[in-house]
Amino acid sequence: MIEFKNIHKSFGENVVLTDVSHVMQTGSCNLIIGTSGSGKTVLQKCLVGLFEPDSGAIIYDGTSFTDMTEENRKELRQQIGMLFQGSALFDSMTVEQNVMFPLDMFSHMNHKEKQKRVNEVLARVNLEDANKKFPAEISGGMKKRVGIARAIVLNPKYLFCDEPNSGLDPQTSMVIDKLIYDITKEFNMTTVINTHDMNSVMEIGENILYMFEGKKEWTGNNEEIIFSKNERLNAFIFASKFLQDAKDMRMLEAKGIIADDRNMEEMLNNGEEIK
Ligand SMILES: Nc1ncnc2c1ncn2[C@@H]1O[C@H](COP(=O)(O)OP(=O)(O)OP(=O)(O)O)[C@@H](O)[C@H]1O
Ligand SMILES: [Mg+2]
Repeated sequence: MIEFKNIHKSFGENVVLTDVSHVMQTGSCNLIIGTSGSGKTVLQKCLVGLFEPDSGAIIYDGTSFTDMTEENRKELRQQIGMLFQGSALFDSMTVEQNVMFPLDMFSHMNHKEKQKRVNEVLARVNLEDANKKFPAEISGGMKKRVGIARAIVLNPKYLFCDEPNSGLDPQTSMVIDKLIYDITKEFNMTTVINTHDMNSVMEIGENILYMFEGKKEWTGNNEEIIFSKNERLNAFIFASKFLQDAKDMRMLEAKGIIADDRNMEEMLNNGEEIK
């Protein structure tokens, strides 16, 4: 569980985060959503200590990250896996070397143990045959999977993913989402995902924080988002006419107005307006 309270962050005159508080749950996919520039990446970077907030508190499972010594922060960081926007693989290293990198840096394993662990995580992301390939030789979706393998190789308690689906087609995006969801459950991780992917929100949005201009605007889950009356959130999530219609249908269904297809047909035949 990661709790943060009253986070403020500015860069000079540019106020980016204002009084943001929330709790990221253990064993859940915690989503930070919002339009480009709303502060998602800055918030995530504050949570892992890549940016220092101007004020506020960050608490990892009851321990204050804000008050930690640099030494203790280093220890905690070894329990944090990160999947960066754009995967951030080392181009001159093979897939295997990329995944082994955190083990080389932080573990005391011998080479055989490291190799075993690398093969384990590569198998977990369904990349058994890619060990010797270079990033330039694999697809975008495969790169994301290598990034995920690298992020989980040290068995982290906390996993941060910044736009894990950027640049991927909808189907591959869902494969990546499912993988992140499954490993979150399997290893009981606190997973934090920045996204503006509608499918992700609906598929894996167990705990959603919607940011608007650097402030917390709405929180809830993927069921509640359908029924939200927050206009800014609705304009953001259900941006297209198609999605707005889909939301309206779900609301009618939930109200029992559309009981089944026959009922729907009757309404249409009777010329009833569906609002
Ligand atoms: N290192 C930095 N120095 C100064 N300003 C920054 C820095 N990083 C981010 N900002 C500013 O913070 C604001 C929020 O940026 P951020 O990257 O968090 O947005 P975002 O919600 O992640 O957007 P996107 O969906 O495009 O990734 C922007 O106005 C940006 O210019
Ligand atoms: Mg961002």
